[in-house]
Amino acid sequence: MQRQTIDPQRPVSRVNPFRVMSVMERATELEKQGRDIVHMEVGEPDFSTAPAIIEAGKQALDRGLTQYTPAAGIPELRDCLVTHYAQRYGVSVARERIFITPGASGGLTLLANLLIAPGDGVLLSDPAYPCVRNFIHLMSAEPQLIPVSLEQNFQPGTAQLEAHYQPNSKGLWLASPSNPTGTILQRPQLQAACDWVRGKGLHLLVDEIYHGLHYVDDLPSVLELDQSCFVVNSFSKYYGMTGWRLGWIVVPEEFVSVTNTLAQNLYISASSIAQYAALAAFTDEARLVFEQRRQAFRERGDYLSKALKEIGFILADSIQGAFYIYANISKFSADCEQFCHQMLEDHGVAITPGTDFGEYECKKFVRFAFTTDMASLQQGVERLRKALI
Ligand SMILES: Cc1ncc(COP(=O)(O)O)c(C=O)c1O
Repeated sequence: MQRQTIDPQRPVSRVNPFRVMSVMERATELEKQGRDIVHMEVGEPDFSTAPAIIEAGKQALDRGLTQYTPAAGIPELRDCLVTHYAQRYGVSVARERIFITPGASGGLTLLANLLIAPGDGVLLSDPAYPCVRNFIHLMSAEPQLIPVSLEQNFQPGTAQLEAHYQPNSKGLWLASPSNPTGTILQRPQLQAACDWVRGKGLHLLVDEIYHGLHYVDDLPSVLELDQSCFVVNSFSKYYGMTGWRLGWIVVPEEFVSVTNTLAQNLYISASSIAQYAALAAFTDEARLVFEQRRQAFRERGDYLSKALKEIGFILADSIQGAFYIYANISKFSADCEQFCHQMLEDHGVAITPGTDFGEYECKKFVRFAFTTDMASLQQGVERLRKALI
């Protein structure tokens, strides 16, 4: 009998692998051959999880807290998030509306299933985090890409939303700060997006996974402006818990019951150990560690941003959030993949090509992640200087 293959008509055939993964694999291969590689491709903090959280995780294991939890998560952790929204943003969010998920990825999967039907269109910025496009494809729906440029801070304005709106558009999915650009939606811009979405009767989802890792004074949660929106967040980035696989979503009141049903069916619950460990993320001890790390990211980002501009990359004036710089390479190359290949093979610097993140001008851009220590960043900059100046 002939072996089955994936039918190219099926939605799964439209899901692309991350190019950053092949950059990482090749970098590791070169390291095994004895080469020294500076890693600026990795989208996760280089710091390990804060000691208080690790200790809480160990205690959870010792106490045998190893069973499934309620699908929505343990009440204590959801309550910590209620307090977090009240203290950090001054908004009141009922515990029922907060669902603990297996990473932001689990939250996005759930919300894609909840909000998107076959044939729907979902408006997205281009460039954006690639999984989002893929989730939409998996729902047999259509990502409706809004090209956003460096000049507009890589975030869409309402005129553009209006221009890309189609009769089948059902929602707008944004991220602030964004991956790969690190840019944020200013409060008036976010308010304008909320108003536009409401006027059109669409849903609005905002990925706030890089909240906390921001270097501007005002970074609003969309919940401050409109409680009918969907929020995705995670313990991965600011809280430094990528490998624990823990995130959360906030849904409007009327979606609580169906969200619970979907959570039960899709993953039963998030990891119990990770949830008990994450309770320690809300202690003063852990907060101090997060703040020190945020400062370290800021220093690295400021350094890298200045150095890249001096070399001839074109990028935003200042870093706003996350740990990414999305830089135009036109001065050096018209093909980001070739550029990244050359930087890695010939100069030992690993960076991610813009083609991972969308279509609009993607060949002219690369993403630098400042998720490595200052000495390594300096080494990387030195190598880029030698290669490009
Ligand atoms: C914008 C954005 N959303 C979601 C995720 C997924 O994160 P998690 O580790 O919480 O699943 C990432 C990971 O890089 C991201 O950059």
